[in-house]
Amino acid sequence: MNLIVTGCAGFIGSTLVDRLLTEGHQVTGLDNFSTGQIRFLEGALERPNFRLVEIDLLDHDALPLAFVGGDVVFHLAANADVRFGTEHPRKDLEQNTIATYNVLEAMRTNGIKKIAFSSTGSVYGEAEVVPTPEDGPFPIQTSLYGASKAAGEGLIAAYCEGFGFQSWIFRFVSILGERYTHGHVYDFYQKLKADPSRLPVLGNGKQRKSYLYVQDCVDAILLAMEKATDKVNIFNLGVDGYCEVNDSIGWICEELGVKPKLEYSGGDRGWVGDNPFIFLETNRIQSLGWKPKLGIREGVIKSVKYLRENEWVFEARK
Ligand SMILES: NC(=O)c1ccc[n+]([C@@H]2O[C@H](COP(=O)([O-])OP(=O)(O)OC[C@H]3O[C@@H](n4cnc5c(N)ncnc54)[C@H](O)[C@@H]3O)[C@@H](O)[C@H]2O)c1
Repeated sequence: MNLIVTGCAGFIGSTLVDRLLTEGHQVTGLDNFSTGQIRFLEGALERPNFRLVEIDLLDHDALPLAFVGGDVVFHLAANADVRFGTEHPRKDLEQNTIATYNVLEAMRTNGIKKIAFSSTGSVYGEAEVVPTPEDGPFPIQTSLYGASKAAGEGLIAAYCEGFGFQSWIFRFVSILGERYTHGHVYDFYQKLKADPSRLPVLGNGKQRKSYLYVQDCVDAILLAMEKATDKVNIFNLGVDGYCEVNDSIGWICEELGVKPKLEYSGGDRGWVGDNPFIFLETNRIQSLGWKPKLGIREGVIKSVKYLRENEWVFEARK
């Protein structure tokens, strides 16, 4: 199989690439290195079954050539940052919706009909039902990121109906682990490195969030694609639980051996569009035989350890 991975140099994309290469697939990775890191591809680039194409998915005309010979597309490239959406409203639309449209068109040009898509639990906005199932009430969007991903999901489903595509749409909670380069552990680590005596915290620290370890996420994606056979297959991916931001701060500080004074900005959320309670129901993926191997605490600690051993990422992601 010739598999195409967009966002191949990113946190999750590069982890997926390594797994696919180990399984013996031919992989073509696409990335524009806006947030991706060439160092994440060091292992992949040494393998004969990997081909890297440096390309911007917004380059609609150039894209079809990069997809020649592909069988399945894993579309992970995106603006993966939720928090700063209102500072640049066009970015989510371009990077997450228009880029997805361009990917679908490049697939259509090349007769590729299978797509896996990294969506997000943010599409549920502030869900009325928690834990939130895939088929809960149609969500009202509360972030530009979530809205742009929901639009991407919509386009993919419409291509399934209109052009005979088959899709696997994954709504992840926040992901943790090796190559972690954005998110709350990253932010807290960076702040504590600058000043271990105090830690500014957005909100009141009582926000409840769910997380998933990156290798468990990749396991779930591959299992679902092997076993789920509907035209549009939608899966929540997350662990069976959640923690408070304060719990996570405790684990991070313990791991770093620091005792900072916690300075809360106050309020029940970190920023406009921040969902104070994210917890996804994962019965659907679990019914296929998947179970996460790591819990949230272990994922947080793995992320801290990774950052401690790879402080270069802070410079690289500036
Ligand atoms: N990390 C999480 O907690 C999380 C949670 C839910 C969903 N997701 C989704 O998973 C996917 C991967 O996220 P990640 O955490 O690995 O993010 P990331 O920023 O590490 O990876 C995204 C990759 O896409 C590339 N990219 C972005 N725009 C591009 C473009 N126009 N053309 C080509 N390449 C482009 C970046 O350079 C980067 O390598 C994203 O779609 C994200 O929305 C991530």
